[in-house]
Amino acid sequence: MDRRVRKAVLPVAGLGTRVLPGAKTTPKNMLNVFDRPILSYVIEEGRAAGIEHFVFIVGRGQGTIEDYFDASPEIETALEAKGKADILAEVRRDLPKPGQMSFVRQMAPLGLGHAVWCARDIIGDEPFAVMLPDMLMAAEPAALAQAVSAHDQVGGNIIVVEPAPEGEAHKYGIVDLEGQTGRLNRMRGMVEKPAPGTEPSNLFISGRYVLQPEIFPLLEKQGKGAGGEIQLTDAMAELMKVQPFHALEYEGVTYDCGDKIGLLRANVAFALRHPSLGADARAAIKTLL
Ligand code: G1P
Repeated sequence: MDRRVRKAVLPVAGLGTRVLPGAKTTPKNMLNVFDRPILSYVIEEGRAAGIEHFVFIVGRGQGTIEDYFDASPEIETALEAKGKADILAEVRRDLPKPGQMSFVRQMAPLGLGHAVWCARDIIGDEPFAVMLPDMLMAAEPAALAQAVSAHDQVGGNIIVVEPAPEGEAHKYGIVDLEGQTGRLNRMRGMVEKPAPGTEPSNLFISGRYVLQPEIFPLLEKQGKGAGGEIQLTDAMAELMKVQPFHALEYEGVTYDCGDKIGLLRANVAFALRHPSLGADARAAIKTLL
């Protein structure tokens, strides 16, 4: 059987409560980071990791995501007629080949575990990635590529982690390691949003995973956990009883775009590293300080 990681699940159905009102009429992962929507960066990262098929778990009112990844004959024809080849290339850069993306309606906001479970029929019986698109990761190699390499090395399930800022661990999923040598370590536990002071470590689950398909039957019967939601972390803790999990402390910088200040930081950071506009962006930002 093909054990290569070929497919990625992107849960995008969240309301974007922390980035309202911007996310009222624009799906939160379609908000701009400098010159492209957040999802453009996440897809680029997935492709750099060898992902061939993206499964979006969407909610109502998020049709613009599907439209963004479709051809746009009006825009493309107009740009061609005007000879604007550079802008045309920008517009086309994120397009998949037909059949490389799927869109599944979650239908009810029951939690991240439920969202991932909605992808079960499209993933089938192979290892797959989960990418939480709120988290933009600037890394070389790409964050998910680092996770896929770890999977090639040790197999099983891989969770990308990083140290939580002081006093913030209780806001996330937190992992417990068997021991710590280097960046890739076998896990012995994990907990979703532990009560402050009870965190088993300061390493939080930062939004990229490689999981085995055996997670799906566990998600199917997973009850509600933290926040009254069906939690992916709880089903992974169940799977860990029968399959190995490794935590990978990836090398790179994470920007939480689900939050106004995180989104601002991402905008500035990705503007500064833009290949052609970075220098102008730097000059423009300097004038504001
Ligand atoms: C989710 C996961 C959590 C992870 C976090 C990263 O939580 O359940 O384990 O640490 O994403 O952003 P949420 O942010 O949806 O509450």
